[in-house]
Amino acid sequence: MTDRPDPEPHLDPEDWDAFRIDAHQALDDMLGNLEQVREGKVWQPAPPAARAEFARGLPRAPQALSDVLEIFDEAIVPYANGNRHPLFMGWVHGAGTPVGMVAEMLAAGLNSNCGGRNHIALDVERQVVRWAAEMLGFPQSASGVFVTGTSMANFLALLVARNAALGHAIRRQGLRNAPQLTAYASAQAHGCVIQAMELAGIGSDYLRLIPVDADGALRIDLLKQAIAQDRAAGHKPFLVAGTAGTVNTGAIDDLNALADFCQSEKLWFHIDGAFGALCALSNRLRPLVKGLERADSVAFDFHKWAHVPYDAGFLLVRDAPTHRQTFAAPMAYLSRTAEGLAAGETWPCDLGPDLSRGFRALKTWFTLRVFGTDRIAACIEHTCDAAKYLESRIARSALFEMRAPATLNIACFGLKSSADGEANKRIVTDLHLRGVAAPSTTLLDDKPVIRCAIVNHRTTMADIDTLMAELETSAARVA
Ligand SMILES: Cc1ncc(COP(=O)(O)O)c(C=O)c1O
Repeated sequence: MTDRPDPEPHLDPEDWDAFRIDAHQALDDMLGNLEQVREGKVWQPAPPAARAEFARGLPRAPQALSDVLEIFDEAIVPYANGNRHPLFMGWVHGAGTPVGMVAEMLAAGLNSNCGGRNHIALDVERQVVRWAAEMLGFPQSASGVFVTGTSMANFLALLVARNAALGHAIRRQGLRNAPQLTAYASAQAHGCVIQAMELAGIGSDYLRLIPVDADGALRIDLLKQAIAQDRAAGHKPFLVAGTAGTVNTGAIDDLNALADFCQSEKLWFHIDGAFGALCALSNRLRPLVKGLERADSVAFDFHKWAHVPYDAGFLLVRDAPTHRQTFAAPMAYLSRTAEGLAAGETWPCDLGPDLSRGFRALKTWFTLRVFGTDRIAACIEHTCDAAKYLESRIARSALFEMRAPATLNIACFGLKSSADGEANKRIVTDLHLRGVAAPSTTLLDDKPVIRCAIVNHRTTMADIDTLMAELETSAARVA
């Protein structure tokens, strides 16, 4: 018998009462920080002293939790991303909620591995899958899986569509002897759709980026032409990826017309609905995404417009068996039993490449239960109203002009006086450095524009007034 060290090593607190005090304090501090989030800067660069903390080598010796919490408070908290702040309007970021934070902490406490097996966390996830189907108008038989984000969900959808087109034997055989697949999306599609073609081994040269109309929606007449040309060239068109809310301007493709077209052409109809899919929650906005409910698959994020803390991407697939057959593998160590912990037919690991995966469903479940979808929809509508209000303020501005219609929650505009748009970039950087607002930039017609994606449930109309004043200050500063 080997000598047992005494005490035997473990990672639980030596003194639970002392730990409780630190843990409660950490929770309280973060709640206080969230309560005050509006008062602070949107963002500030981390100074060298804070960054130096992260240049240290591997810690071999233990350190008190209270000491590490102190470092967290001083070197991490003040220099965070900023997306919780109501004047953060860059990219498309969710703001999170205190409810989501508590749920995330509870999930970490349970530390469930949601790759599979017979435990209650999977019931929660399956319930959210059914709720997602209900939200988007899919049948309850649809299959769904949490992933990191819409980039991953788009990639998985493309793999499912690829296998549906070529048969599941390509899992073994690869694409070498397969016909050349071609896919279609609008020229405003997110870069992750292009990347998905590369990752899937099809090649981004075979993704046809179809020009958009004046509203930013894919031109179906040109889509038809591109598909006819590809068929004439002997290629095999397999997938159309519509967009519900483009990243640049929030434009929405004519999803219903695309659904008709894909049905008649026997093409897989996927929708990248990263944020726009959740328009389906709102009676007012739902008509904009009509046709969403007819897609073969939809990728979207709970971490954007539903404010579930990062990360909570989601893929919904109408044809559950095809989804499963794309990923499921009969590994001995994952075999199922009729009862016990290894029971259950379909496990989440059968629906994507992740085996070990966390309990993303819990923070989503808490968010949906605590707020209800009507309240989330009201917040979504409010961000669209705020974008419209910003559009109206820009229209009346002497300095700025709109560069694309604010269809949803995104307003793109620029200085009237800047022909090449370079000053727009300088204005955005100045806003960031002053910590007063955080829009981002993008290119429209190859020229930089200021882009405000209003996603945050905390953003008020008064914040839009503040933004306008700060834009004018920054315009004067960079002139
Ligand atoms: C339309 C669209 N698609 C895909 C993505 C990527 O989503 P994620 O960042 O969750 O991977 C985004 C991100 O903003 C997006 O707006």
